[in-house]
Amino acid sequence: MDDLRTKYLEAIAGAGDEAAIEDLRVQAVGKKGEISLKMRELGKMAPEERQVAGPALNALKDEINAALAAKKAALADAALDARLKDEWLDVTLPSRTRPAGSVHPVSQVTEEVTAIFADMGFAVAEGPQIESDWHNFDALNIPDHHPARGEMDTFYMHRAEGDNRPPHVLRTHTSPVQIRAMELRGAPLRVICPGRVYRSDYDQTHTPMFHQIEGLAIDRDISMANLKWCLEEFAAAFFEVDKIEVRFRASHFPFTEPSAEIDFRCSWEGGQLKLGEGDDWLEAGGSGMVHPKVLEAGGIDPSQWQGFAFGLGIDRLAMLKYGIPDLRAFFESDLRWLRHYGFLGLDQPTTHGGLSR
Ligand code: DAH
Repeated sequence: MDDLRTKYLEAIAGAGDEAAIEDLRVQAVGKKGEISLKMRELGKMAPEERQVAGPALNALKDEINAALAAKKAALADAALDARLKDEWLDVTLPSRTRPAGSVHPVSQVTEEVTAIFADMGFAVAEGPQIESDWHNFDALNIPDHHPARGEMDTFYMHRAEGDNRPPHVLRTHTSPVQIRAMELRGAPLRVICPGRVYRSDYDQTHTPMFHQIEGLAIDRDISMANLKWCLEEFAAAFFEVDKIEVRFRASHFPFTEPSAEIDFRCSWEGGQLKLGEGDDWLEAGGSGMVHPKVLEAGGIDPSQWQGFAFGLGIDRLAMLKYGIPDLRAFFESDLRWLRHYGFLGLDQPTTHGGLSR
């Protein structure tokens, strides 16, 4: 019995996996196992012999069963440990490496400008890029043969033969979205309208397609002072400085009266643009009080309502903020340029979280 004990306890201690344990169980205490066979021999023994051998065999059987169970548990523990080590994962690692694509500066700046004006209560409005002649010109108080039509270098759509209606145009500015927003939403109204516009022009600062953002606020007693405050708030937030002084320069646009060109105070010292300081002025766009005829065209009663409007160049804002020298590169889709000037896709600009990072 001592030999059996030593044999099996050693074998169990050396077993490498569950299958080996099971083999040993069958060999030792299975139906035809060595110990089970020994137990069958008890019947042939003399009673006094059996009294000693019986309990001893039972004890051995228990001991071997216990050793089998303990070894089985130890093997399972070891297997679990190995798995835990193997499947270990650092959840603090970034989920992805930097995405291969990047956000174009025009999209980035559009998002930035939109976020700033959204904070001031402006909703985003959109209109078609192929626009009716009426929305692009007439409704904005630019009648036929008005010199402003000539200045815009308009692309006209093809007209079917015999069709004498005025041709549609590729919108030359985002101002027609003012009319569409008034038609759709009525007064009071506060919208910004970013989008693509088209003019037949091409050099370092002009491309046939570029981007503008239009602003429009209509209420009972809106004034140029409200306009100036909005533009100053916007400029400081956009250029991420404490304060930027805005200067109005008297101008003329058919759709506003009075009209003013918007300038931001800046310095070009050492060829470096700094906003909010210095004695230079940066032209940023056009603005004014919405002309009564324009309100009427949008279906709004000019004796009840008035408002301001402004138009800014998105590409120009992007060039100034991010130091991009040539507008044409914006639309050449050169991957090296996009990688250099592009923004991270997962960083949404917000006024609370930061515009540019
Ligand atoms: N639509 C003008 C342009 O493209 C820009 C502009 C000027 C828009 C004055 C306005 C405004 O809303 O009030 O040149």
